[in-house]
Amino acid sequence: MSTADIIEPRTDEPLSEQLRDEIRALGEHEAHPRAACIAALQRVQEEYRWVSDAHLREVAPLLGMSPADLDGVATYFNLIFRRPVGRRVLLLCDSVTCWLMQRERLEAHLRHRLGIVPGQTTPDGDITLLPTVCLGHCDHAPAMMLDNELYGDLDEQRMDAIIDGTAKAMP
Ligand code: FES
Repeated sequence: MSTADIIEPRTDEPLSEQLRDEIRALGEHEAHPRAACIAALQRVQEEYRWVSDAHLREVAPLLGMSPADLDGVATYFNLIFRRPVGRRVLLLCDSVTCWLMQRERLEAHLRHRLGIVPGQTTPDGDITLLPTVCLGHCDHAPAMMLDNELYGDLDEQRMDAIIDGTAKAMP
């Protein structure tokens, strides 16, 4: 399938009734429905890759929250994306152990290979590069996460293999 054939999710469409029901059920499962807000945002993100303002405004009342309250949670939690992202999100650890293990050299490699800086998406919409706090994989630093898979012991060659889909997660 070429990139031109990939159908982009429509974030200007209302949430499906099925997804709204799922989110209501997540809230009903909790003593306080707002306790389900991260799970609800994650469900929206699974469907659309990011959480648009329109979708956030739809989710909030399903959990008895104001949009401002829910936005506060969404922007605090760094794995909820409030702006469009590419088809794959590459989170490069930006914490101390990875810094000690040369992560800046890897970031430079990514900038060169992808032609973007952290916070940007490749022009073909394939990869968004984001810095992130410690991924909890310090014993295999430097580390990164691509599409929710964790990778460690990175060097330039391994990073290229990961992006090309030929390297295994979690060494
Ligand atoms: S500091 Fe990078 S994984 Fe912990």
